[in-house]
Parts: sequence; structure tokens; C-alpha cells
Amino acid sequence: MTVTPLLEAVELSRAYGACVANERVSLALRAGRIHALVGENGAGKSTLCRMLFGLVRPDAGRILVDGRAVTLRSPRDAMAAGLGMVHQHFMLVDELTVAQNVVLGREPRRGGRMDLARAEAETAELAARFGLAVDPRAPVGGLAVGVQQRVEILKALHGGARVLLLDEPTAVLTAQEVDALLAVLRRLRDEGRAILVVTHKLPEVMAVSDEVTVLRQGRVVGRLDTAATSAVALSELMVGRHVDLSRRPRTTTPAEERLRVEDLVVRGPDGRARVNGVSLSVRAGEVVGIAGVEGNGQAELVEGLCGARSPASGRVVLCGQDVSRASVRRRRDAGLCHVPEDRLAQGLVPAMAVADNAVLGVHHRAPASRGGVLRRAGIAAAAQALVRAYDVRPADPALPVAALSGGNQQKVLVGRELSAGPRVVILAQPTRGVDVGAMERIHAAILAARDAGLAILLVSAELTELLALSDVIHVLYRGRIVHTVDAAAATVESLGPPMLGAGVAA
Ligand SMILES: Nc1ncnc2c1ncn2[C@@H]1O[C@H](COP(=O)(O)OP(=O)(O)OP(=O)(O)O)[C@@H](O)[C@H]1O
Ligand SMILES: [Mg+2]
Repeated sequence: MTVTPLLEAVELSRAYGACVANERVSLALRAGRIHALVGENGAGKSTLCRMLFGLVRPDAGRILVDGRAVTLRSPRDAMAAGLGMVHQHFMLVDELTVAQNVVLGREPRRGGRMDLARAEAETAELAARFGLAVDPRAPVGGLAVGVQQRVEILKALHGGARVLLLDEPTAVLTAQEVDALLAVLRRLRDEGRAILVVTHKLPEVMAVSDEVTVLRQGRVVGRLDTAATSAVALSELMVGRHVDLSRRPRTTTPAEERLRVEDLVVRGPDGRARVNGVSLSVRAGEVVGIAGVEGNGQAELVEGLCGARSPASGRVVLCGQDVSRASVRRRRDAGLCHVPEDRLAQGLVPAMAVADNAVLGVHHRAPASRGGVLRRAGIAAAAQALVRAYDVRPADPALPVAALSGGNQQKVLVGRELSAGPRVVILAQPTRGVDVGAMERIHAAILAARDAGLAILLVSAELTELLALSDVIHVLYRGRIVHTVDAAAATVESLGPPMLGAGVAA
């Protein structure tokens, strides 16, 4: 007996101008099953989710809920049909509290006004039921990304969604948070919900899904039972070739010291030391990795180094020059580039064209300007080169960055910073949200920059990435370096205990 899917896409198509984002995509979500959706950056995964959630209208095709055709004009229609969605880029309102966000659009009311006490109670109850710890009264704007992710999930669950669509829910989570989320998804599945999860992390697909659909350039190129496939087979189906992310033996040796950090202390907004006496050194032609569970001072270390936050004490020396008190702009001009972890808030201006984003921060120098005057031709040439070198898709520098898929936005950002002619570059989560093929390309670009003599500080939540790229790895725990290893000799297992503070006096 075949069971009617809770949600079904039948030959859905959608184009953006000349770009065909989805072409006759069919997919069925069944009760009690977790369905993974994978594919390269720009393959059309988010577009499919958005159509299924009423955010984007299909050009052709049908959507069936419980076997009946529906027209979803808005997320409100989708929610009424029993669907919930967790977005790739959060759709939370920073100014509102957790509870206000969770009930948004479905507010409990009393006497014509929103019943805040009930909203908070409902949020607390939902959070307890699914083991998603949040404070219903906290303003969302001040929360860590992992907590914001939980709020997104609670919002999707509020109102009793039977079908959950999650677009890269684990991209910004720490390994521990990922495990917790996967446990929640299994619980929801076992309660009879249907779940669609988009992710670039193939080990997660293997760990949690029952079946997988692979998209390539807007079309379904594979539908497999998870038990009958492997991460390697999936990555080849996704990008159409073999992908190798393993560590390569190196042929160059590091040269002179470029970045020196001495006893650095950086305080958070509350005055507490988040970086508490860090000393390290990065030489030309070397990659120094920073490992750690998120929230152990990585973000503040990066801010203190690039000038976004003044250190309370200690020194930052860039190519022999003390820049401890220098502005972001002066540090950039002295040769320090930086890929921030939050690309849409800090690195890129989404509404601006790829071309203009490609020269942001270096627009006052050649080739973007000469004698203080911007040169359109110089900007266009730089953008073209970047788009080609990093395989940004679509290859159109005139498009606003907001029209690119998440992974393609990341390629623009990394490409810009590595091509700005830096002497030292700080990379924070450089491959977050990129597909395995693009990850291979970005890794190759990082190693090529290293071999060309760049000094690189790499902060990453992905241990496999740190192990593949770094020469030395420092483990940051509660704002201090508690462990330093030669990356060639380290393993994921050996980094685990120091990341959790093993062997550190309390
Ligand atoms: N609003 C838009 N305007 C123009 N083009 C768009 C828009 N939204 C998406 N596209 C294009 O549609 C294609 C599919 O994008 P989509 O965001 O669905 O990809 P994705 O598979 O989710 O990628 P990623 O893994 O990077 O998130 C891409 O080529 C993208 O540039
Ligand atoms: Mg996407």
C-alpha cells in the first residue's frame, strides 16, 4: 500500500530571468521520514523550499498537500496547510523577544491585543517539549546564532506544523548543537512528521536522513535511499566529478613573521575578558588554525585583530608595525585582510552589485580608482577576474549579491579578500555554506595564497578543514590557548578533549 505523501512537489519549475532555478522538480515528503535535499551552490534547493512555503510562486507545476492540489500565495497559506519552515538566512525580528518572534503571525490574543504572557508560556512549553533551551523574554537581536536557530525552529513548530522544511539549519551550528538538532529531527520524525532538510554536510545526510534527492542546475539528478548510498557517491552526483578535500603534503617553508600577537586581552560588551592573554605568531607562507567550541573567544579574537574592537591590553604587530590601536581601515592599508563569519551583515552589501562588492574596502586603490576617482572599467575587470577564478554562478557581475545563492556569496567574499593583495589574512569560517566542490576550490585558493607567501590565520568550526589546511593548530578555550599542535600529527579525536577544556585547571 502506498501512503499519500503529506507534501508533494509535482514538476515544479521556476526561472529568474534567464536563470532556470528549478526545472520540473518532483519530490514527495512522507510522514515519519526525513528527506535530505543536496546539491551544489545555486542548484535550486532554497528556491524549491521557498515555493513549497509560499514565498515564491512556481512558473509551472503543482503542489499537493495530502494529495490535494493547493495554491500557496504566502507563508500564511503554507502555515495554514500545516507547513513550517526554517530559513537559510534567519527571518527573525531582532527588536522582538524570543516569544514574540515564535508566535509572529499567529499571536494569541486577549481583548484585541496580543497576549504576551500566553505567548511566553506557549514558547516555554514548546521549548521544553523539544529540548530547545531558550529564554522566551530575551530580545532576539542579542542572541548567539545557535540560539537564534532554535528560535527559528520553535517558530516553525508553533502552530503544529506536520511538515517541516529546513534550509541549511546546521550551517551556523557547533558540532554539539548539530547533534542536538539531529536528535530533535529524529524525534519529530518519530512523531510522524515529514521533514525536508537541506544541507551541504554529507555526513549529516548519512546520519539522519531516510532518503536523498540530489539537484544539479535546477534538475533532479538522483533520488536514493540513504542506506544504499555513501557520502562519496553523493558528492560525485552533486558536482559531477570526484572531490578531494584531504590534506596535501607541502613544498614550501614558512618565512618571516608577519603577524605577532602578544598577551592580547579583548573584553566583551559586559566588560568580561573574552580573549584572555592570547599570544601567537603567523609567518609568511603559513596557515595557523584556531580550533574551539564556538563562543570561546574566537569572534572577539578576530575583532581584536582586525580592529573592529579595541584590545584592553596586549599588542598586535603587523609586519613589524604596532597596530594595536589602529582603525580597521589603517590595518587594511597595512596589508591585513579579513573574511568575517557573518557575510551578509559584515562582509557584503546584499543590495549592491557583485562588481561593487568585489572592490568594497579596496575601492580607494587601483584598479578600482585612480587619483581618488572610481574607475568603472577597473572595477568591472576586477569583478570579471574574481567571478572567473572562483566560478561564481551566475557569472554576471551586474547582479546584486542578494540574487546569488548563499555559497556563491561566500565565493565573492573570499575571492575579494584573497585578491586584495594582503600580507596577512584572517579567515573566519571561510567555507560556511559552500558546497563540496566550491569548498575544494576555496581550499585550493587558500593553499595557493599560502604558497605565494601569504600569512593566514584560519578560524573554523570544521575540524576537518583546520586539519586539511593548517600548519599549526591552537585550541582556544575560555579565551586562552590551552593546546597547540602540529596539524600534520593531529586528528579530530585528539582535538576534542582540549576543546572541551580537558586538562585545564578551572
Ligand atoms: N531573487 C532572485 N533573483 C535572481 N536570481 C535568483 C534569485 N533567487 C535565486 N536566484 C538564482 O536561482 C538559482 C538557484 O538559487 P538557490 O538559492 O535556490 O540555490 P541553492 O541551491 O539554495 O544554493 P546554496 O547552496 O548556495 O544556498 C541561483 O542561480 C540563484 O542565483
Ligand atoms: Mg540555499
